[in-house]
Amino acid sequence: MKSSLPFAALAVVFCVHSLAPARGHSTQRPVNPTTPNETRNVIIDTDPGTDDAMAILLALNSPELNVKAITVVPGNAPGKQVLENGLRLVSLANRCDIPVAAGALEPMFQKLITNDAVHGKNGLGDIELPPSKCHVDPRFGPDLIIEMAHQMPHEITLIAIGPLTNLALALQKDPSVSSLIKEVIIMGGSINGGNSTAAAEANIFGDPEAAQIVFQAGWKVTMCTLGIGAKTVFTRERLATFSRTHGPENDFAVEVINRIIGYGEKQGWGGMRMYDPTAVAAALDATLVETEFWHVDVETQGAFTRGETVANRINAVERRVWRGDRYVFEGFDPVQPNVHVAVNIDADRFLNLFVARLSGK
Ligand code: BDR
Ligand code: CA
Repeated sequence: MKSSLPFAALAVVFCVHSLAPARGHSTQRPVNPTTPNETRNVIIDTDPGTDDAMAILLALNSPELNVKAITVVPGNAPGKQVLENGLRLVSLANRCDIPVAAGALEPMFQKLITNDAVHGKNGLGDIELPPSKCHVDPRFGPDLIIEMAHQMPHEITLIAIGPLTNLALALQKDPSVSSLIKEVIIMGGSINGGNSTAAAEANIFGDPEAAQIVFQAGWKVTMCTLGIGAKTVFTRERLATFSRTHGPENDFAVEVINRIIGYGEKQGWGGMRMYDPTAVAAALDATLVETEFWHVDVETQGAFTRGETVANRINAVERRVWRGDRYVFEGFDPVQPNVHVAVNIDADRFLNLFVARLSGK
């Protein structure tokens, strides 16, 4: 069957992703067109979360990124707790200038699922941070995203590392944000099995309808998958090196990673999988990840597959014609790719970068 794939579709399948068009096939532009000296304005939408905390601290200590706001979404912990954690993290980094805003309190069409087994009762692996010196921003997270998208058109990159509820609410309230946001970089989804279910990754499973809205919005989406996260194992050996330097953020990160390494070892992973920091890494240095441009839908119905990110790896669907008593497959019709799917990461360079940025901080 696949041998009859038209040449045009094959060309899409095997395109080198860094040259793939952002929308459609006509424009040639790089995945992350940031030049080395350019600073990216980012909003981090997050459910902190142990690995969220690592991602936030990486972003706050990376000169390539200018964090304009943090919006929180329930996921790893309930809404009140993730807000508290967001505030404590910016306080730890002495960045009370960054607005931290509360978002949705629950997913769009299902009950909230938190993850106490990995992230502990407080979402931060039960490691206590000092009370925050910073105060919550009174704006509603999705409104803040809309406001900043209009204030800085085509300049904001959204780094979304929790369920996609806030992004979907922003799109529903003001569909024009999809054309005003420069890029959306997500940690979420998988093209080879899930961690919440056999098929679904946790952030997508946490709000599948929201994810489908975000994936189909027509903006540029990069998906840092569970698969690349699995390659980013922070080992005890690396932790020993990281433990030699000190500072409030450095020491907190060491404690968190130490705890999650314990969890990872029980799973047979050999350390902590650094899922959420991969999305920050993709924002600050696009060459760290290798991507493919595919059409991705989120399954919202399946009894076994709800929350699965279904990638069309040939960007084509069969065309079948009714011939009186049966359908006849006559060839392929192209489908428009919509998601840059990260299929590989330079894990060693990424983990070295993480340690370098947080050492002594
Ligand atoms: C994702 O799920 C959460 O538990 C993590 O913070 C990460 O965003 C990994 O599947
Ligand atoms: Ca997260």
